[in-house]
Amino acid sequence: MAKKPQLWSGRFKEPVDEQVKRFTASVGFDKRLAKQDIRGSLAHARMLAACGILSRRDVTAIERGLARIGREIDRGRFKWSLEAEDVHFNIERRLTALVGEAGKRLHTARSRNDQVATDLRLWLRDEIDAIRGLIAALIEALLGQAARHAALVMPGFTHLQVAQPVTFGHHLLAYVEMLERDRERLAQCRSRVNRLPLGAAALAGTSFPIDRARVARELGFEGLCENSLDAVADRDFAIEFCADAALIMVHLSRLAEELVLWAGPRFDFVRLPDRYLTGSSIMPQKKNPDVPELVRGKSGRVFGSLVALLALMKGQPLAYNKDNQEDKEPLFDAVDTVKDSLAVFAGLVAGVEPVPASMHAAVLAGHATATDLADYLVRKGMPFRDAHEVVARAVREAETSGRDLAALPLESLRRISPRIAADVKRVLTPEGSVAARRHRGGTAPAEVRKAVARARKRLSK
Ligand code: ARG
Repeated sequence: MAKKPQLWSGRFKEPVDEQVKRFTASVGFDKRLAKQDIRGSLAHARMLAACGILSRRDVTAIERGLARIGREIDRGRFKWSLEAEDVHFNIERRLTALVGEAGKRLHTARSRNDQVATDLRLWLRDEIDAIRGLIAALIEALLGQAARHAALVMPGFTHLQVAQPVTFGHHLLAYVEMLERDRERLAQCRSRVNRLPLGAAALAGTSFPIDRARVARELGFEGLCENSLDAVADRDFAIEFCADAALIMVHLSRLAEELVLWAGPRFDFVRLPDRYLTGSSIMPQKKNPDVPELVRGKSGRVFGSLVALLALMKGQPLAYNKDNQEDKEPLFDAVDTVKDSLAVFAGLVAGVEPVPASMHAAVLAGHATATDLADYLVRKGMPFRDAHEVVARAVREAETSGRDLAALPLESLRRISPRIAADVKRVLTPEGSVAARRHRGGTAPAEVRKAVARARKRLSK
């Protein structure tokens, strides 16, 4: 069978080299944009008809052809061909085979340059909505755990050393905050993604009397790309998304790191559900936290996508250059990685079971209430700097006698400062310490419960 010539082959003396064909083709990955390509073409064709640029008959034929192509793709029957280079040419060629002349007229007042930018924005817009939903599901899992364990005391850390008691619920709510900002960032990013490039054509706009606003309305875009050069040239919307995705992965990776530490025998703060653990091929005693480790590892891929797109963009003169074809794989990979990581984490987080005894033992082994004792002395009239000194001495004494500060007898404490009285016991317990932090944003169980309720309300909006 004779090969069909390229759609643009009119002025070429020889066919494209086979290796060059493979090298320049993008259909292997951009066929993922097929649905968006069809939607964009439909809106474009209808606008052309409404503006008298295309006949009604042609549009009807185009609609019929594109609907059929959509079905062929859904059923896996569409024949993608490298010869046709990319998703746009593949669909256009098939359309022409199906409906003839009308198919060839579809590309009036359009270029693949504004077409691909439109497809990518439509695609990313939907993916952003999906990712925002997945973040919400993970937030719900965290809120469920936070509500259940609003009063469970554990050590809070700075420099990975026991610092002050916090509640497990409060600790988890920190991640809720991070993820809520991630959701908010994506909503803002979405509105900049959601602008229509079509109409820019190759770079300079078109000589046909088009109606861009109509296309934007039909495709649900909230605005137009105002400058035709910018419309086809910039991928800042994809870069911005990858930056937001990278931050999501940073947050997941930190939680992953904590789960790995906590689930390990040194901490033993939590048990991860067996269905999320894997065994070792050689060490029978092991249960490995592969899921959080992989999420931690996969964060690197998403940072990579961000850097790849930044580098892709920085040296390009206006307007479109083929470099931009390289935008897709990093973007697709970032989207897939973030979605998979969020989805697997929602299940994992919901199944985490804390080990209160280990948490409690760790709080009592780290002089976690030292700051509470200092605050106590301040309330008894001692300046904070002096109180800090006094408590440091008490910690030293506790250390030499092999005890936690909270376990020192009252007489020893009184020897260090006579201001200390029997009521000190209340502030020295971890429970007393967390209960005292009862302001908005504090770790007291009552505050954690209120924070959960507020977060639930925000999420339901
Ligand atoms: N496959 C191309 C891309 O992904 C479509 C646009 C091609 N435009 C061009 N002038 N070669 O960017």
